[in-house]
Amino acid sequence: MKSKFATRVTTASRSFTRTILDLTAQSSTISFAGGLPDAALFPRDTIEKHAKNLFATQDNRLFQYSNASGVEALKVEIAKKYALTTSAEIMLTNGSQQGLDLVCKTFLDEGDCIIVEDPSYLAALGLFHMYNASIKAVPLSKEGVDIVVLETLFQKYEPKFFYTIPIFQNPTGYSYTLENRLEVVRLAKQYNVILLEDSPYEALRYDGEQTTSFADLLPELTIALGTFSKTLAPDFRIGWIKAPQEIISALTLSKESTDLQNSKFFQFICASMLQNGELQEHTKTLIEYYRPKRDAMVNALRELFGDSIEFVIPEGGMFIWVNFKKCTDSMKLFDVAIKKGVAFVPGSVFFADKRISSYGRLNYTNSSLEQIKDGIEKLHLAYKELS
Ligand SMILES: Cc1ncc(COP(=O)(O)O)c(C=O)c1O
Repeated sequence: MKSKFATRVTTASRSFTRTILDLTAQSSTISFAGGLPDAALFPRDTIEKHAKNLFATQDNRLFQYSNASGVEALKVEIAKKYALTTSAEIMLTNGSQQGLDLVCKTFLDEGDCIIVEDPSYLAALGLFHMYNASIKAVPLSKEGVDIVVLETLFQKYEPKFFYTIPIFQNPTGYSYTLENRLEVVRLAKQYNVILLEDSPYEALRYDGEQTTSFADLLPELTIALGTFSKTLAPDFRIGWIKAPQEIISALTLSKESTDLQNSKFFQFICASMLQNGELQEHTKTLIEYYRPKRDAMVNALRELFGDSIEFVIPEGGMFIWVNFKKCTDSMKLFDVAIKKGVAFVPGSVFFADKRISSYGRLNYTNSSLEQIKDGIEKLHLAYKELS
């Protein structure tokens, strides 16, 4: 039978990360591939306490339909993360992934141009492709984006938005410097381009000073996405959008036609944990567990690989972006590494043009200290075999 699928589906490639997750789920492979938090750290007891409390204090209306923009108590807590922001500028989404989808649904017509960082978040690239956007990429370095190229792209293509992950970026772990941010703000104002700021890793800072978000530097032109997936649990599917009220109204309409609302049950638990400071405390605990994991990976990479590779130590987040200099195509390294029992994500999948790359993304949050040491040893064996 001739396929009746839409072109956007038939031309979409299967996510490489999904392939790796499937590959590693069954086996004894040490996986540095996914972007997963450490499940052992999910605050199970606290969640249970608040769930029981909800059953004890709420009637059945808890499970009834409600409004699309989210539970007011939670929106109030989220608004506190930004300067001079009210709950009217916040809406809830099913993870920040849905936030991305709703922004595309609300802003993109077929063929509209958007700008992404080069490299960028894999699932966002896949999504933009599904909306048939014309994707232009701006080079990213450890200081931020290339301002000259960004200006040329803004000028030439009049993009609908610039998709930016300015803190502990996925896949690189890089963060924009303040100077770089201010330059981006200057260009966004000059060319009237929306900044679609995605910051899922912001709260996981191990060193350095907190930085100012685009949402606070340029609130009138920024749509900011946030999530509790990395600090509470991905399964809660609680993300949010912070934007000017007019944009929130349009996005809420899009949300209504997508899934009507987020689950109130999970929103209430999350709101209570923020109101009494439990989630903030839990985030500190996560940082205390994740920092040594990052350090363990950095040390193992340095000890074994020496200067045969290059990487920047990330100040936060979940990833190290490694340049395997002696292996021009890290996909080949991936094939050998898998045979040795370790997985990572080859860099090419994160570039909009999927070009061959010597880089690879390594996650350290979802492995034990022992697994990190063993896994980097296995990766080194694979590297030696190839170079
Ligand atoms: C940059 C980026 N944006 C969005 C997401 C989606 O997160 P969520 O679980 O909130 O949908 C992720 C998940 O890894 C991510 O890395």
